[in-house]
Amino acid sequence: MSSFVFPKDFLWGGALAANQAEGAYLEDGKGLSLVDLLPTGEKRRSIMQGNVPSLTPLEGEFYPSHEAIDFYHRYREDIALFAEMGFKALRVSIAWARIFPTGEDTAPNEAGLQFYDDLFDELLKHGIQPVVTLAHFDVPVNLIDKYGSWRSRKLVALFETYAKTVFARYKDKVKYWMTFNEINMLLHLPFIGAGLVFQEGENVKQIQYQAAHHQLVASALAVKACHEIIPDAKIGCMLAAGSFYPYTCNPEDVYQGMEKDRESYFFIDVQSRGEYPGYAKRFFKDHGLSIEMEPDDVDILKHHTVDYIGFSYYSSRTTSTDPEVVKNMTSGNVFGSVSNPYLDKSDWGWTIDPKGFRITANQLHDRYQKPLFVVENGFGANDVVSPEGEVNDDYRIDYLKRHIAEMGEALQDGVEIIGYTSWGPIDIVSASSGEMKKRYGYIYVDRDNEGNGSLNRIKKKSFHWYKNVIHSDGENL
Ligand code: BG6
Repeated sequence: MSSFVFPKDFLWGGALAANQAEGAYLEDGKGLSLVDLLPTGEKRRSIMQGNVPSLTPLEGEFYPSHEAIDFYHRYREDIALFAEMGFKALRVSIAWARIFPTGEDTAPNEAGLQFYDDLFDELLKHGIQPVVTLAHFDVPVNLIDKYGSWRSRKLVALFETYAKTVFARYKDKVKYWMTFNEINMLLHLPFIGAGLVFQEGENVKQIQYQAAHHQLVASALAVKACHEIIPDAKIGCMLAAGSFYPYTCNPEDVYQGMEKDRESYFFIDVQSRGEYPGYAKRFFKDHGLSIEMEPDDVDILKHHTVDYIGFSYYSSRTTSTDPEVVKNMTSGNVFGSVSNPYLDKSDWGWTIDPKGFRITANQLHDRYQKPLFVVENGFGANDVVSPEGEVNDDYRIDYLKRHIAEMGEALQDGVEIIGYTSWGPIDIVSASSGEMKKRYGYIYVDRDNEGNGSLNRIKKKSFHWYKNVIHSDGENL
């Protein structure tokens, strides 16, 4: 692979989310967010898929988000470490329930607004651009309780108010925004993606696509507001990407691969091209789904499309129509993938496919012809601190090195990429498992799955490696 120098203005950095990093779950007036109801272990998985949780935290359960890594109080120390690595950007999310604790308060919570003012000031002081997601697996619990979350049209206006509030407040500080994190997650982990829970016998697909419509309209209204309030800002969508490969060249497998990709593209087709694609209309018809829309929705979607395509890439996916092959699914894949015999997996069963990153980036760019922003990529592993107090995470360096090299190839293919914010530059709580031991960071956090530990930060070997990558504009991998 030839050595390649990334553009000088490329936004190197890292990405995290309020719900997995901040902690301080009820501090300074914050209301409960959906993630505050998610314990660890099996219960978590079942709730994430839509089984009804307790709407108040239960005695005796451990909820990792409640303290997380205490970024709320330690962000200055953490940002200084990001700055030491040379970060140009940090992707964070705003916790909706810090700004509107019940989601429908008549006035925003000043203490919550002030927290993000201080956070953005700290980043800008170090020359780090904030890249802000409005909703990263985040809905105020009151809205779940009262309206059933995104199944209700009510959420559209409430979200619009929240978006306008933060655009107006941070218009001089934040120039890169995204609406919904991994919007397609709504189909796979509906509680975490959209706060959806289901009662026995309900038509799950109908509810999911109705909720998706509400999020898509809310997203377009946020794009509109962002363009009006901050004309020099860019606002994007955010897709959990990773193309599907057909297991064989049997046209049945190839067709199924296309359909699986479209399950995800559906969201971005609406957000970026501005209308429901024909294949979606057919899907609704074939499944007897009818999506309620208001008269202006078509216009809203049409006229307020995103400026760039934000996406996460962890792995490719593989699909087959052969019942024998389907018996061999990957264990850890949220999206349901058969095991690809050409590729290795992480300890959590996530497929490792650097070339798939280049393929996915090319396909997204071919399809949308808009700049891409890689806002998540990384390797979750169980790091061990040596007796000397070091973390030698060569496996992480290897994963990132190979992925960044393929991103360089994609740029040379003509794909426009604004930046790369790797996931969890400091260890944070895992979204899917709630564990601390599934670590992504360049910075180790002393905390275990049960909530024990000093929360002290330690630079891993990858810290020094990534610093050098950024310093050399991606030439020294
Ligand atoms: C993405 C999410 O799905 O993947 C993040 O946007 C999440 O919130 C990341 O943390 C990695 O997944 P996990 O389950 O390993 O934390």
